Amino acid sequence: MAKEKTQYTCNECGGTSPRWLGKCPHCNAWNTLIESVAESSAPTKNRFAALAKTAEVTTLADIEATDVQRTPTGHDELDRVLGGGVVEGGVVLIGGDPGIGKSTLLLQALDALQRAGQKTLYVTGEESGAQVALRSRRLGLDGSQVQVLAEIQLEKILATLSAHQPAIAVIDSIQTVYSEQLTSAPGSVAQVRECAAHLTRAAKASGTAIVLVGHVTKEGALAGPRVLEHMVDTVLYFEGDTHSSFRLIRAIKNRFGAVNEIGVFAMTEKGLKGVSNPSAIFLSQHSEPVPGSCVMVTLEGTRPMLVEIQALVDSGGPSPRRLSVGLDRDRLAMLLAVLHRHAGVACMDQDVFVNAVGGVRISEPAADLAVMLAITSSLRGRALPKGFIAFGEVGLAGEVRPAPRGQERLKEAAKLGFSVAVVPKANAPKKNDKAFEGLTIHGVDRIEEAMELARSLA
Ligand SMILES: Nc1ncnc2c1ncn2[C@@H]1O[C@H](COP(=O)(O)OP(=O)(O)OP(=O)(O)O)[C@@H](O)[C@H]1O
Ligand SMILES: [Mg+2]
Repeated sequence: MAKEKTQYTCNECGGTSPRWLGKCPHCNAWNTLIESVAESSAPTKNRFAALAKTAEVTTLADIEATDVQRTPTGHDELDRVLGGGVVEGGVVLIGGDPGIGKSTLLLQALDALQRAGQKTLYVTGEESGAQVALRSRRLGLDGSQVQVLAEIQLEKILATLSAHQPAIAVIDSIQTVYSEQLTSAPGSVAQVRECAAHLTRAAKASGTAIVLVGHVTKEGALAGPRVLEHMVDTVLYFEGDTHSSFRLIRAIKNRFGAVNEIGVFAMTEKGLKGVSNPSAIFLSQHSEPVPGSCVMVTLEGTRPMLVEIQALVDSGGPSPRRLSVGLDRDRLAMLLAVLHRHAGVACMDQDVFVNAVGGVRISEPAADLAVMLAITSSLRGRALPKGFIAFGEVGLAGEVRPAPRGQERLKEAAKLGFSVAVVPKANAPKKNDKAFEGLTIHGVDRIEEAMELARSLA
């Protein structure tokens, strides 16, 4: 029998070569060529010809614009990040660390939708049907009518989708799905791109909302081609510290709603439960104030949340370390330089560690002031006063810039019983407002002013 013809496919770019090479001739990546069976004929060239309908040019005003139909999932926190619910024909990509709860949340959401009378389909490529059933029992979803399909071949999934016509389908995960048309392995860039494109097209054509679960890389970005994020309508990230029970879902991109909205969940034995009032969950409970801790108010999406920033400054070796968890490391280096230059606080020979409590990731620069105050407090070994909060961006020239929607942040702090606030001058309220009762607000213009104030208050 004749040996089957093989070729070498790059698992980075999908390019091929007739023989093995150390370096891919297409994308110049090293050691990425993997042997695979060559496709028999070449029907791939005009694969999309049938799909290209004769397109017509229309005036924008003549196109009937129907408002998007949203179906609430029954989980308020998930609906919040989705912009109100799942959209007909919308494609959502949800990524997150292993074991964070992606499958759990989606199974819960599907069950709620099914109970509300929607047709649902859960395609699992990572677990067997029995495992999914086991999870559903644990989550207390007894008698669940969610349809389950354990399948990883794209063509079969597409056939099932068109036969069942579910209102919403979950593909768990896109990295396990493979198309017969391609020879590269499941999870490779070419496969992920191809399968996601087919599923997206199926969603748009049939009106089925599709949720794709995506793996993340070691760095925390979605695995697979970047183009995946462009293809879909909504990109959600699941984040949080696996050691704490709180999980956040963040919308990175949303064609049907606001981005940077976050949903907060608590992982319980019965699955993920929404936390509707999350403002105080990221505070650790100190009975007395401790050095190196400063609370800030962060505003993600529409809700302010209080997050404790902790810093530890300790004498380091010849090359001191700067480490941050939940905050940007480059920004930390910058803040240390500003602290030295403008406030005379030197940490050159010290190890500096900063941490946002509870596994939250803070990307907004409004954390700057709290980070600097926490560092100074740790260096001096003196705690900030009880009930102290601070927020504000700090510039390279040592100026303290206002944070967006400062009044809302202050109101939340006052509501939770905080008593002293150091904030940018522009964020300090002009007149006495009932909402800030009990909170003494100090507006500052420059970092040295803030440091001086913190010293006199402590
Ligand atoms: N018996 C249990 N009691 C409480 N929590 C549990 C129990 N079993 C599992 N969990 C929680 O569920 C999480 C697993 O969730 P899930 O399988 O949905 O994650 P995932 O994001 O889909 O992971 P993967 O990327 O591996 O598919 C575990 O990390 C754990 O926190
Ligand atoms: Mg899973």
